[in-house]
Amino acid sequence: MSLSLSAEKPAVPDDADDGVWLECIECGETFPPFEDVRYTCDECDGLLEVRYTDLPTFDDFEGEGVWRYADALPLSEGVTTQEGATPLYEVPRLEESVGVEALRIKHEGMNPTGSFKDRGMTVGVAVAKELGVDRLACASTGNTSAALAAYGSRGGMETLVLLPAGKVAAGKIAQASLHGARILEVDGNFDACLDIVQELAAGGEAYLLNSLNPFRLEGQKTIGLEILEGFLADYDAVPDRIVLPVGNAGNTSALYKAFRELVQAGELAESEVPKLTGVQAEGAAPMVEAIENGADEVRRWDDVETRATAIRIGNPVNAPKALPGIRETGGTAISVTDEEITDAQRDLAGEGIGVEPASAASVAGLRKLRTEGIVGDDERVACLTTGHLLKDPDAAAAAGNDPEPVPADTEGVLEHLRS
Ligand code: F0G
Repeated sequence: MSLSLSAEKPAVPDDADDGVWLECIECGETFPPFEDVRYTCDECDGLLEVRYTDLPTFDDFEGEGVWRYADALPLSEGVTTQEGATPLYEVPRLEESVGVEALRIKHEGMNPTGSFKDRGMTVGVAVAKELGVDRLACASTGNTSAALAAYGSRGGMETLVLLPAGKVAAGKIAQASLHGARILEVDGNFDACLDIVQELAAGGEAYLLNSLNPFRLEGQKTIGLEILEGFLADYDAVPDRIVLPVGNAGNTSALYKAFRELVQAGELAESEVPKLTGVQAEGAAPMVEAIENGADEVRRWDDVETRATAIRIGNPVNAPKALPGIRETGGTAISVTDEEITDAQRDLAGEGIGVEPASAASVAGLRKLRTEGIVGDDERVACLTTGHLLKDPDAAAAAGNDPEPVPADTEGVLEHLRS
């Protein structure tokens, strides 16, 4: 069973609670949403999705931010710090140099903790409360831990984060630390951290809030809904393509789900669905490998390396949801070098938009796809930038201008400026 774009509405099982249930994407088994803690299918261990009896149309949305889309979410309110409603920036110089009909930057770095993770956590932490758990946990390349720590503390819950030692950017550790998470630095990479935290969660030690958790992805769907509403308002049409960085492929899965639900609600024709286009760093590109090889499964990469530490991931757990998302929408996946990522980070900074390296991968990937002729010059494109520049101050300083020492008098400063 593969997730396809279809106008057919799902049959409602007895497990539905107020029109919401969990369904396995592999075997179709259904489960009540809030009775017990589960992350994958009891029968076949497949990934779960949240399903709904009533799918909303654009007219049903009101208010601002993630909870504007409450009718598309499993709960009507969350543990919130006013996440979402991020800018969809125009970038005229970049648009021209890349050479597309329209280019907009959806800057998720403008969320409360500086990344898109807040959208997932406002929903995921609320579900954790509904389930009555008291300890939350995640593995993280940094941003998930920052968001979990913030939303966990806002919800009055204990948080535990497992981070790959020496591979997390400074801003992210600072956030997890001050928001009061217990930080376990693991002598291994992100994928090893995720293996461990999944085992801890399975043993009932904590509630897992990685993107394997189907409720978190519901919050992240709102990125897609906001982009579509923004394009409809400005161009009277949805974008032809959405380009995004890929790590665990949670966003790719979430955006695809948002589009499938709009098709089922009759709001979007199958032919209109934006082409989901994933970008990975060359040193951590298992999804790209699978797309290029036409493979049904993603091969786990044990050795991964990239300056874009947020996407230094070799085992994208949401691949079974994301591969059909890329293929069914007519999208693709591409890898870029660290140098291309840094160049794109500078290009965005030159338009006044400060992003962390992983975020710039989207723009680097778009540029490469234009050069290769895979993206046409007539396309209207949204690039997702997932995290704020200040998340990784060291990468920003290395990519930017060096400070120039000057003496402490005006004459000396003027002399320096003239030299
Ligand atoms: N961009 C940033 C800035 C990220 O932090 C992440 C993932 C991604 C892109 C990839 O998104 O997993 O949905 O494909 N960061 C996770 C973390 C792994 O722990 O913060 P994805």
